[in-house]
Amino acid sequence: MRHSTLSKKDRINFLKSVPQPDTMAEEIHSGLARDNKTLPPKYFYDKQGSELFDRITDLDEYYLTRTEIGLLEQHIAEIADLLGKNSLLIELGSGSSIKIRFLLEAIRPKAYVPVDISYAHLLAAAQRLANDYPWLTINPVCIDYSKLWSIPISDTGRRNAFFPGSSIGNFSPSAALDLLKKVHSVVGERGGLLIGVDLKKDAERLEAAYNDAAGITAAFNLNILRHINRRLDADFDLDNFTHRALYNEPAGRVEMHLSSKTPHQVQVQGERYDFKRGETIHTENSYKYTVEEFHHLAALANFTPLKTWTDPLSLFSLHYLVAH
Ligand SMILES: C[S@@+](CC[C@H](N)C(=O)[O-])C[C@H]1O[C@@H](n2cnc3c(N)ncnc32)[C@H](O)[C@@H]1O
Repeated sequence: MRHSTLSKKDRINFLKSVPQPDTMAEEIHSGLARDNKTLPPKYFYDKQGSELFDRITDLDEYYLTRTEIGLLEQHIAEIADLLGKNSLLIELGSGSSIKIRFLLEAIRPKAYVPVDISYAHLLAAAQRLANDYPWLTINPVCIDYSKLWSIPISDTGRRNAFFPGSSIGNFSPSAALDLLKKVHSVVGERGGLLIGVDLKKDAERLEAAYNDAAGITAAFNLNILRHINRRLDADFDLDNFTHRALYNEPAGRVEMHLSSKTPHQVQVQGERYDFKRGETIHTENSYKYTVEEFHHLAALANFTPLKTWTDPLSLFSLHYLVAH
């Protein structure tokens, strides 16, 4: 059947059979119960968090998005040759599915599988794509990609994954290795991975990217508390916290924290958590890599780097890796 004869509804087919228990409550309690409190960054992303992230990508200070898009635009012909036509194209953390638009016309995939944890945003993005690409089959999956080992599509053709935005940097190097191994199992041998990775650079530029003058990153960071209030019957007062971001150079990562302005208590599902003045909740790490460090990590996950593109200022890298 020709795809163009299918209705939009038929072309957006959610893959519901990916089993995934809801572990949010467990993860939030265990992070808050630690001496150094933490929260998993994936919980920034409810509808409002996804919209705030989109606003971050437009900020002058946030060089990552425009630099990665520049690399995609400049090298699209070579990228398309490497990915090949008619593969199954899986995107991890697809968000608004903007960057994928540079690939769709060029590689005409058999189907596009956007994977994202933020359901409403994922659905809206899929609907926009269905309008704009009438020939495209879209199979969205709303899950935590760090738990993804397979895509339930019976298809024996070639698979390519796309993992933009340097989201790999939100994982510690050992967790990033686990995630790359999962991507390897999803694309299978000879499958490809096109991945964007932010490069190590001066602290000033890095810290500015996560401390924008308009305060959008601060609102995004605080949104994790609003999300927890809504989902877990919690009473975080957002006014009691301040956004902090700093480059921890020895660890090679930008850290985001929410710092308590005052001693206070918070209830989450009836559980009490005490905050001292100045105590922080560590909400996100964004690890930065050199090209060599990232190639080493990829090799440990049995990926061969076939091509790496960087911009003239060496701000960002885009890699095409093949699974062996
Ligand atoms: C930093 S944004 C990147 C969005 C887009 N890919 C880009 O490059 O601009 C991360 C995206 O991944 C999604 N996300 C974050 N953690 C996730 C997880 N563990 N599982 C699935 N999606 C996740 C978020 O909802 C968000 O859309």
